[in-house]
Amino acid sequence: MERRNFLLTAATAAQAAFGQGASTQVATAVIGVGSRGSSLLGEVMQQPTARVVALCDNKPDRLDKAATRAAATNPSTTSDWRKIIDNKSVDAVYIATPPHMHVEMAIAALKAGKHVYCEKPIGTTPESIRELLKVARQTKKVFVVGQQLRSYTQLGAAIKLIHEGAIGQVLFVKAQRHATSDHPHDASSADWYFDKKKSGGYLVEQSVHNLDACNWAIGQHPTRAAGFGGTNMYKDDPKGRDIMDHQSITYDYANGVKLSFTQMVFHPRSMPAGNQTINVYGTKGAVELMNGAKFYSLDGKEQRLLSPEVQQKGDAHTTAFFNSILTGAPSPAGIEVGVTGALTAILGNQVCEQGRVIQWSEYGVDV
Ligand SMILES: NC(=O)c1ccc[n+]([C@@H]2O[C@H](COP(=O)([O-])OP(=O)(O)OC[C@H]3O[C@@H](n4cnc5c(N)ncnc54)[C@H](O)[C@@H]3O)[C@@H](O)[C@H]2O)c1
Repeated sequence: MERRNFLLTAATAAQAAFGQGASTQVATAVIGVGSRGSSLLGEVMQQPTARVVALCDNKPDRLDKAATRAAATNPSTTSDWRKIIDNKSVDAVYIATPPHMHVEMAIAALKAGKHVYCEKPIGTTPESIRELLKVARQTKKVFVVGQQLRSYTQLGAAIKLIHEGAIGQVLFVKAQRHATSDHPHDASSADWYFDKKKSGGYLVEQSVHNLDACNWAIGQHPTRAAGFGGTNMYKDDPKGRDIMDHQSITYDYANGVKLSFTQMVFHPRSMPAGNQTINVYGTKGAVELMNGAKFYSLDGKEQRLLSPEVQQKGDAHTTAFFNSILTGAPSPAGIEVGVTGALTAILGNQVCEQGRVIQWSEYGVDV
């Protein structure tokens, strides 16, 4: 939609939603203005349909920095996230705190009638995720999980074509998230990242993006998994670390598709076949989803892009969030996407920890 037409549509929708003469700008707060929250703050500030009205962080230096950056709209500041929830002038909340806090904050925001953009993973335990799902379904507010691959235009177009049969029947997926080194031990998030109770571990905190994209391509979530993992390179480094540095997991889907997923943090930078890949194999050929959506026919005669390359807008997910609020368009990555992504990653962790096949049905989550 052209920008002018979008704003007109948004204005009409805002008047319907908030009353005659209402501003088309959604009053927005950001909870957690660390590394990711700062990026998201920048994205919100760029939106013609949003206005930053409140900021929260329990680290005063980060809060000050964010408030200075957003000074044009003079946001209120607080170190107490519950004050954001109680602030009646806030319509929408961004949650970019460490993962173990997401569920509690998101539930409180939804119950207070706010739209929520919650960073991934939406939660770190099946029990808490089940609770958030229940509340999100009851409150019917716009919910977006920060799995922004869902707003990648070329990826979405390629997956749509796969669903329409472009590579035949999907048979198998091989995917990976291979980093060249550990998460930086001096990163702003290093005070929670290596603690599994807080981050959920590498698979939950990082690979949730990749696993979600695999589910999206396959068209469903897995029914069970098996796998192994451990810490071979970064044993007790940093001190007290309890997250794995490598994992190899096989997921089984109800439609017979298998997903073979590996993650590691020691893939040499110069060695080929590193980084993040998702290869989807079908009866007519295979597609490299993450690398330009290139299709290879099974007979080896044809190689082409499955969907055309496009200039990807970095803030497309945030734009889609406000579009959903103002026009009622579907969320680009709603609660079910957040739930299935996080639970797929948790399932992967649990099979590595417990050394047994675990069934999705054990979680009692109906998505
Ligand atoms: N979607 C993406 O691509 C992407 C990228 C990076 C991080 N993330 C996610 O964003 C979240 C934050 O990651 P990060 O790297 O920005 O971490 P970070 O540590 O840099 O930032 C988290 C911020 O939350 C604040 N915080 C902690 N407890 C708080 C509380 N009780 N009240 C208010 N503020 C509190 C911290 O002070 C910190 O500033 C994580 O869930 C992470 O997985 C997503």
